[in-house]
Amino acid sequence: MKKYLKDNKKFWSTGYDALNVESVIFRLQGRILGPQFSLPKKNPKTRLLEFGCGQCANLNYFHNMGYEVKGVDISKMDVKKAKKRYPHLSKKIECINSNPDEIKFYGWESEIDVVIANQSLYYLDRKEFQNCINKIYRQMRKGGIIYASMWSNRHTYYKHSKKTDNDWLREVKFKGKRFKISSYHTFFIKNKRDLLSKFKNFKPIHIGRYFMQLEEKETNNDHYVFIGIK
Ligand SMILES: C[S@@+](CC[C@H](N)C(=O)[O-])C[C@H]1O[C@@H](n2cnc3c(N)ncnc32)[C@H](O)[C@@H]1O
Repeated sequence: MKKYLKDNKKFWSTGYDALNVESVIFRLQGRILGPQFSLPKKNPKTRLLEFGCGQCANLNYFHNMGYEVKGVDISKMDVKKAKKRYPHLSKKIECINSNPDEIKFYGWESEIDVVIANQSLYYLDRKEFQNCINKIYRQMRKGGIIYASMWSNRHTYYKHSKKTDNDWLREVKFKGKRFKISSYHTFFIKNKRDLLSKFKNFKPIHIGRYFMQLEEKETNNDHYVFIGIK
């Protein structure tokens, strides 16, 4: 396994305790998927895949909204916790290899209606990212919707990151005690053009942004949002 994938896997092996649904997720349903696309449908049920589902609060939300859901993640610990918390979803959540080259498909082989990647698609190098996007694209039905939130380079972590010998990934160094692992590798989106080029497989529908910071000293979580259609 490539070193950056190993490092990232090690980072996520300690888990990500996001136990609640982020507001961007229920806004996505309430403002876009529901009113603009009349989703979810009932018969057959709308298939929704979450890439990088973590502890599955979002996945359970979409399940409750009436979607047929599947989630994939590289963190054994998160998948284990999610299965325990949401026993009704336990067969729908899969722990996967972090390298898209080693994976045939995510969740369902085809006919996926909605793909959600909330803060999970930027831990891959150029080649693996493109492979992952191509796979997701192939698995979606024509007219399927993708939502991805992507770090902008105004995120606080950008300042704590440094160039690597690769022109795509940066290394983010952590100092706080909260982090047992000292760094991981990721890329940041520079601007709208950059975002569109990363998702060029899809036709863009909406380009959004979100930003949250309660205290000046806190990390700001500046993200671009890409919503596109196959
Ligand atoms: C910031 S967390 C977000 C979790 C969840 N989407 C949420 O909104 O709560 C990022 C997640 O992406 C997962 N991840 C990182 N690299 C991945 C990869 N190559 N394939 C699948 N999941 C990955 C991590 O394990 C982690 O659970």
